[in-house]
Amino acid sequence: MITIHVNTAREYDVLLADGLRSQAGELIREDLYRRRGGSGGKEARQICVVSDQTVSDLFGGREQTLIPALEEAGFRVTTFVFADGEDHKRMETVESLLDHLTAHHFTRTDLIVALGGGIPGDVAGFAAAIYLRGIDFVQIPTSLLAAVDSSVGGKTGVNLPAGKNLAGAFHQPNLVLFDPSVLKTLPPDRLQDGMAELLKAGFIGDPEILRTAMDLQEPTAADPGTPGQNGAAGSDAESFLVRREALLPLIARAIDVKRRIVEEDERESGSRKLLNLGHTVGHAIERCSDYRLSHGKAVAQGMLLVAEAAARRRLCREGCPKTIRQILTRFGFDLCCPFSPEDLAEAAASDKKIRGETITLVIPDYPGPCRLESLPVSELEGFIRDGLEGLPVDVSEGLIRDGVYHSDGD
Ligand code: GLY
Repeated sequence: MITIHVNTAREYDVLLADGLRSQAGELIREDLYRRRGGSGGKEARQICVVSDQTVSDLFGGREQTLIPALEEAGFRVTTFVFADGEDHKRMETVESLLDHLTAHHFTRTDLIVALGGGIPGDVAGFAAAIYLRGIDFVQIPTSLLAAVDSSVGGKTGVNLPAGKNLAGAFHQPNLVLFDPSVLKTLPPDRLQDGMAELLKAGFIGDPEILRTAMDLQEPTAADPGTPGQNGAAGSDAESFLVRREALLPLIARAIDVKRRIVEEDERESGSRKLLNLGHTVGHAIERCSDYRLSHGKAVAQGMLLVAEAAARRRLCREGCPKTIRQILTRFGFDLCCPFSPEDLAEAAASDKKIRGETITLVIPDYPGPCRLESLPVSELEGFIRDGLEGLPVDVSEGLIRDGVYHSDGD
């Protein structure tokens, strides 16, 4: 078993091992004894397992491993399942979950278990942060993205009509349990999304992640990407499926990068912003695509765009964008961004989280670590234009047709 101890105001362990779902009950009980001492662990009687429909069907049934394991450890288990998709990461879902908790008489000593990818994790964590002013919760991530990013660090929350993640709380979990066998059922597309966040951790502060990832991954037809040509096709993402079982040490290293940063700046007043590498532009790309392009794929384009712009302005090493492009291409990311600098800058500036005259950008400097740079909002469009010049151009067919973004084959 790999253990990563996160030393935030509330300390906790991230445990990684095959078969952890079948040990979840006893691990949670032991953790409660440690935290609450003596008979304290016995006080927790109930657990609400929160997941979306897909994850519940795969891992959250009474005939599967997790719930019997929790019951064997003496917990009474209820389940709260909501419909799949980002549209359901909203206040109404949290409200229904709070109603479920009150209907089942959950007290401050009971717990929530978030079972799933980023969306169930964010919804369940937010409900845990506010129910009775805060109860304990445990993250059991079932996607690569959730394992390397969203389940660690305590960010919880939901979207508001005005924008993504605008309501939330910092609320660290008691425990994060990652059982890598869950990746077997993860669709290739979702695995690739998680890969973007895993590689992001490498660019932020651990080049060994990138070297090992490149060794594990077979070159694809489109590798290395050549400027001016179409990037690798999404189907190349299939080729790293065989490597799933080899990902665990890389997942652990990526979590450790996040641990270091979160321990230094739990509430994102400074260095935690490094974790947003590729995200300012990535969120703008997602928005311009009307959320048809998924988060990881948009972040991959965002990372390359920022590196290209930074290299043109001599803010990073000359070879940095080329390496980023090679690595992302090896993992099958389509790096053609079909949007104009004007549209991207407008989408980025309308992000409700951007306040004031400047924005903070994360500048990669591979093989060195990333750093933060402030940029006047008025210069964002020029910066994005510089970056777009370095991105591959789609030579096959336009991705924007009839004014609407179409993903491949769409
Ligand atoms: N996903 C970025 C963070 O946790 O700060």
